[in-house]
Amino acid sequence: MDRATAPAEPVVLDRYDDVREALRQRDLKQALYDAGGDVMAGSLITLHGEEHKRRRRAENRLFRRGTFRWWELHLVPGTIESSYAAALERGRTDLVHLGRRTIMYLTALVAGIDPPADEAAADRLERLAHVFSAGATAVHSTRDPEELRRDVERAMAEFDEEFLAPARRRREDMLAGLADGTVDEQDLPRDVLTAVLRNRDELGMTDAEVRREVAFYLQAGSHSTANLFTHSMHRIFSEWADPAFAARLTDRRFVQRCVLETLRLNPASPVAWRRVMADVTLRNGRALPSGSLVELDLRAANTDPAVFGPDAAAFDPDRVLPDGVAPWGHSFGGGMHACIGMELDGGVVAGSSADGEENVYGTVTLMVAALLEAGVRPDPDEPPTEDRSSSRPNFERYPVVFDPAARVAHEEVPV
Ligand code: HEM
Repeated sequence: MDRATAPAEPVVLDRYDDVREALRQRDLKQALYDAGGDVMAGSLITLHGEEHKRRRRAENRLFRRGTFRWWELHLVPGTIESSYAAALERGRTDLVHLGRRTIMYLTALVAGIDPPADEAAADRLERLAHVFSAGATAVHSTRDPEELRRDVERAMAEFDEEFLAPARRRREDMLAGLADGTVDEQDLPRDVLTAVLRNRDELGMTDAEVRREVAFYLQAGSHSTANLFTHSMHRIFSEWADPAFAARLTDRRFVQRCVLETLRLNPASPVAWRRVMADVTLRNGRALPSGSLVELDLRAANTDPAVFGPDAAAFDPDRVLPDGVAPWGHSFGGGMHACIGMELDGGVVAGSSADGEENVYGTVTLMVAALLEAGVRPDPDEPPTEDRSSSRPNFERYPVVFDPAARVAHEEVPV
């Protein structure tokens, strides 16, 4: 549904508790991505009920905490190092581009696209992920919808030919090898494409749906992560004139708290939309009539003073939270559609899990820490610019320079 056909007055929920309850309501169905059909139709986030449960179960197996810790120790540091190398050599870069490129390598791995062969291929894949992202968030686009739809269609065809088809052939060959005993289970790639191909009969997915699922993952991971990365650096740059704040940036756990506090204040998706499938009454007595559209205002709920205190809108990485409230508020959603990549990006805060896990910093914290270690500074000659192609408040460019004299040393993390 686009803005033109949406009912003029959706029911808006903007209190923390109401949004939490609504996210967990089985009779509220995803409705934000109806306008993004070219990228999103039939992808996990658009499904409901049993169909969603079956698909999520098949894909969830990839997203175990042990896998994330392994990735964080063995995969993420090398990816950051190689993605940052050219920028460090030049002594300057654009954070928006750097963030997209770095996370693209990781989300491509999760989605099931083999690493691009060279820089030019990586550029093409990054551009395609960007087009998919604009298509998926069409509801917030300020561009001509028809032109956007044509861009997405062209990008899908290019993506299929250059990236998806070879990745798919390789996985289908391996699955055939698994069936005839020439390939071991443990040698199968651990990615979404393999998971959906392997469970295709049970999931009943068409080729176009398989393509959209992989494209959806590619953009879902990249865009939100790249925006969080840039917003986090912006918050840090805004605070670090305070020497007490700057001194604490040597501690990765503090950097992680800055990233998660940024995420609370800058949710990638400022709202979620749901269609009411059967009359619902919230605990506070609020009625959500069947057929109505509900807007969950994540940004407002994340700054609800009843939960985050009178200074809820302020950036405070040391904020003390009530029991059961995550530092990022509702920015990773909740309930059946809760973000599957949450721990990959946000990590796990020590002591927050029942089993007393160690800290997992999350990709964004490691990306920010690596910038600080390289002596990052805002470019004094070129201020950041806003992205005007979307009503979502993101940066289009964020030029920075590297100053060896400004390097922040972090404690060593065991590998
Ligand atoms: C800062 C980074 C990220 C943010 C803020 C974010 C946010 C969200 C939110 C709010 C939702 C729920 C939307 C709703 O309920 O309508 C969601 C769902 C999802 N996210 Fe993320 N996300 C991030 C990174 C990632 C990454 C890295 C991946 C994958 C590699 C990912 C994959 C998904 C998927 C597959 C879903 C749909 C889950 C379902 O419908 O069952 N996300 N994300």
